[in-house]
Amino acid sequence: MARLTGKRCLVTGAGRGIGRAIALAFAREGAAVAVLDRREDLAMEVAAFLREQGATAAAVTGDVSQEVSVNAGIAAARDALGGIDVLVNNAGIDTNSRVIDMPVAMWDEMMAVNLRSVFLCTRAVLPEMVGRRWGRIINISSQLAHKGAAEMAHYAAAKAGVIGLTRSLAYEVAADGITVNAICPGPVDTELFRNIPEAWRTRKLAELPIGRAGTVEEIAPTAVLLASDEGSFYIGATLNPNGGDVMI
Ligand SMILES: NC(=O)c1ccc[n+]([C@@H]2O[C@H](COP(=O)([O-])OP(=O)(O)OC[C@H]3O[C@@H](n4cnc5c(N)ncnc54)[C@H](O)[C@@H]3O)[C@@H](O)[C@H]2O)c1
Repeated sequence: MARLTGKRCLVTGAGRGIGRAIALAFAREGAAVAVLDRREDLAMEVAAFLREQGATAAAVTGDVSQEVSVNAGIAAARDALGGIDVLVNNAGIDTNSRVIDMPVAMWDEMMAVNLRSVFLCTRAVLPEMVGRRWGRIINISSQLAHKGAAEMAHYAAAKAGVIGLTRSLAYEVAADGITVNAICPGPVDTELFRNIPEAWRTRKLAELPIGRAGTVEEIAPTAVLLASDEGSFYIGATLNPNGGDVMI
């Protein structure tokens, strides 16, 4: 039997990249999936593709950094699927600047999209999960949260914040039957990674024992594990599919 049959899953930033791969993997395991993205065209395309494969899927457009948009998007996903059992906080951005040159607006945008969003989306689904006494929250952090990186202090700070939020919330809701965990991928070949300046990417890949970026298909199975019954003993964990960039 498929591992997520009967589960209703919302994946943010699922219009492309890692989020799309997680949405596809969840659907293959029998889940109904809400594909949330700020790009309506991408969300619709992925949801249509999932439906072609025989899955139940809905497209939701929204900006995860904005409270009103998040609440509306979560409500739309809940209406479409009948509830939300699994939330994957995946939507994220990357920009590059040394701290000495960084505009405050760049810092603030990073915190809003990569950290505040996790709080907003999580808070919006928690009452339902607590009421059902079952839920899975999976936050996509980064190995840079552990390691840091020049020109990415804001990104690493936001992603480290995601780990702190993950652990703290895990304490709060484990007794309610809800697991909260983080995934910290290494460099993965997506548009986000390809848009980083080439010199940075070359330096980064040279640090990796595996000598290459990962594929989105090498990240999605970790999300399936955490969403499935097989993942029930992970509480506040950070799982690290990262090509050996940080060996923890
Ligand atoms: N690619 C990597 O090397 C890598 C490594 C570690 C962690 N991550 C993390 O994985 C997640 C996915 O990254 P990716 O590489 O697939 O990126 P990507 O740019 O390919 O996809 C991100 C998706 O999120 C959406 N999005 C961005 N901001 C949004 C917002 N405010 N509201 C709603 N949707 C929004 C985008 O439209 C896009 O579809 C991010 O959180 C990223 O930080 C990526």
